[in-house]
Parts: sequence; C-alpha cells; structure tokens
Amino acid sequence: MELPRGMFITLEGGEGVGKSTNLKFLIDWLTDRGIDFVQTREPGGTPLAEQLRELLLQKREESVDPTAELMMVFAARAQHLSQVILPALNSGKWVICDRFTDATYAYQGGGRGLDRNLIAQLEQTVQGDLRPDKVLLLDLDPEVGLERAAATGEADRFESEQLEFFHKVRNAYRARASEAPARYAIIDASRPLQQVQQQLREEMEALLP
Ligand code: TMP
Repeated sequence: MELPRGMFITLEGGEGVGKSTNLKFLIDWLTDRGIDFVQTREPGGTPLAEQLRELLLQKREESVDPTAELMMVFAARAQHLSQVILPALNSGKWVICDRFTDATYAYQGGGRGLDRNLIAQLEQTVQGDLRPDKVLLLDLDPEVGLERAAATGEADRFESEQLEFFHKVRNAYRARASEAPARYAIIDASRPLQQVQQQLREEMEALLP
C-alpha cells in the first residue's frame, strides 16, 4: 500500500524576523501531535549542501557573481531534495524546512535583481512539480529585523548587505505570497510572540487531515 505523501512546510522571512524561535515552536507542535517529521534547512541539509552553504555565507574579498550564487543555491537544493526531502515526503513524513525556493526568489530575484524567469526555469528543472504545501512567511520591516539580527553575532555575507537589499527581499517575498494566497501565510512578525504563534498554530491545524 502506498503511503500518502507527507506535508511539506517551509518557514521564510528576512533577517531578524524570529525564524529560530518560531521554528522551535513548530517543532514542538509537530512533536506534541506525534507527527513523524524531518526538520531541515536551506541552503544545507546534507553534508555536501552544508558545504555549499558555508561557501555561500562566507564573506570574501572577491565579489560573488549573482548567477554563480544562484547556481550554488540550486546545486545545494538538488542534493537536498534527492537525499532528504523527497525520501521523507515519499515515506509519509512531514518536512519542515527553514527556507526553500521562495528565499531564492526573494534574495537572488529581489535582492540581487536576477530574472525571475531564470529562477523559475531552474526551479522546474530541479524540483519538477514539487512546491511546498504551505509557506509560512514571517514578515517584518527590515529596519527592525536588522536591528534584532545585529544583536545575534557576526554578520555573514548576506547579513552584511545594505538596508535597501532587504527592502527588496521583503517586497519579493510579499509579491510571491500575494500571487498564491492559498499556499502562503503572511505572518506579521512585529506583533508580540504569543500572537505570532497563535497564527502559526492555526495555520498548522488547518493542514491536519
Ligand atoms: P539563514 O538560514 O541563517 O537565514 O541563512 C541563510 C542565508 O542564505 C540567508 O541570508 C538567505 C540566504 N539564502 C539565499 O540567498 N537564497 C536561498 O535560496 C536560500 C535558501 C537562502
């Protein structure tokens, strides 16, 4: 008998939106309900993809070509999908992933200004028809987010970008969400944590069979 495919949920947002805290909340929610799940992240999630993550996040003298950056992100994703995400979903497990392709549309598309059609082509090549069942988008004014993020240690290559970059990232995320409202939940992350998590709980409950 074939198992029903697990739910594929991604958590997205700019810097300092509270991804780590809310990810922990989602993990606790899944655990409390006895749902079999895999927690993972992008870029990363396998040894090779984690090495690509290090290369992507490292600050370096050489300026990084946006297309090279895009290819590295999708190289990591192809590996992650075949080794972790697809096997988990196909065995009926839920997958909760800290960032996925919406981050590519936001950072490489919005932030770096790369052509969305190019991203869409790579998305189709690497993922086929696989898309997250639900994208939980933590939305916050980047000025507030960057202030929060600054308190959590040394900035990586992305975190070192200017404010304008993060406004573009936010706008691209919101534009994606407005194109397919049923698959996205925009969560106003400027509210008190309790309210943010109440909405997360409702979104998760709506996914239960
Ligand atoms: P984070 O997971 O700690 O937020 O760091 C990952 C960084 O990688 C973050 O700054 C966003 C960036 N990123 C991209 O630029 N494109 C992508 O497709 C993904 C998944 C992440």
